Amino acid sequence: MPIQHAILALCSLSTTALIAPRAATPALTRVRVETLNFGEMLQNVARQVGGARASAAASQTAGEKLKALLGKAEGVDPAEIAAACADDVLYEDMASSTFKGPAAVAAYFTTKYQGCRIAVEKTAGNATTGGMTWRREKVGDSSVYGLRGTTYCRFDEGGKLLYVREGSEPLLKPGEATEALLKAVTANVEKEDTPATYEPRAPTGAVAVADYLWNEAYPKGATPAVALELFAEDIRYEDFNYPAPFLGKPAVKEFVEAFDIPGIDFVPLEISGGDVDGGACCFTWIVKVNGQDGPKGISFYESDGAGKISYIRDIPATTPAPLQAIAALVNPELRVFSPRAD
Ligand SMILES: *[C@@H]1O[C@H](CO)[C@@H](O)[C@H](O)[C@H]1NC(C)=O
Repeated sequence: MPIQHAILALCSLSTTALIAPRAATPALTRVRVETLNFGEMLQNVARQVGGARASAAASQTAGEKLKALLGKAEGVDPAEIAAACADDVLYEDMASSTFKGPAAVAAYFTTKYQGCRIAVEKTAGNATTGGMTWRREKVGDSSVYGLRGTTYCRFDEGGKLLYVREGSEPLLKPGEATEALLKAVTANVEKEDTPATYEPRAPTGAVAVADYLWNEAYPKGATPAVALELFAEDIRYEDFNYPAPFLGKPAVKEFVEAFDIPGIDFVPLEISGGDVDGGACCFTWIVKVNGQDGPKGISFYESDGAGKISYIRDIPATTPAPLQAIAALVNPELRVFSPRAD
């Protein structure tokens, strides 16, 4: 309808409403009803807008909730963080310690995140479990950034933060050294030639792939080739043990094959749920070295439109440094690889 016609139609409508009715009573009633309806309509709009906000909050993923709490432009607010925590919250900072209770968590943020903002990069999760990747920036200056990390989180049924594991990159990148040491530590472990017992599948989406690889395929004898099948050709793989990311499948293949060491098992602890498309997932794990607890870690997976994994960030615990933890397993008393005598 051309605009002039629309205006004419509107004018004739309002004229109809303004003209004194021939039969007064029914028309007046009609006008009153219309007025009421208009008021109701406004209220409905207000209700819908409010409702949309409320349901947006309810349908936020755990990662988005964590981002809203920690990722503010003006920096963290320790009191607000404490208020968002459950009384029995456990905040595990892999680089320092585990903090219990809201007050200890607030104190942690007061000392560790002074003048800094947590610039959130990616988020993952369903309503209760999830995580985010991030980097430290100075408040008010996003031109440079510092330490990068990943944080896994679990909220309780009341929406309070119940468990967090925070991992950040080690400043000394012990990548190839770790690889060489793991091989040395497990050198006498025979490569088992037992047949793989998992049922091969081709899941799509980060949540389904993480669950399949870590809970089914790897524990039942899958080789890195199985994982590579589920990775995108242009995958970006950040293992913070190494100074640079592995870009593209060939580079990633070489890297994951180097870590396929007998006697080394990566055991998942908590794998987050995902949102509707399950396109991002955050999870925690522990390395078992010859069956004993080794370094802990945290990972973040993201999938592309085809459901293939296109982004991975892996972070091993920095304290106790992975090398220290491994050394402790090899030599529990001295915690070094070669006892020192001078
Ligand atoms: C979120 O995912 C976790 C892990 O799969 C699951 O245990 C939990 O029940 C899920 N929460 C909701 C609200 O769906």
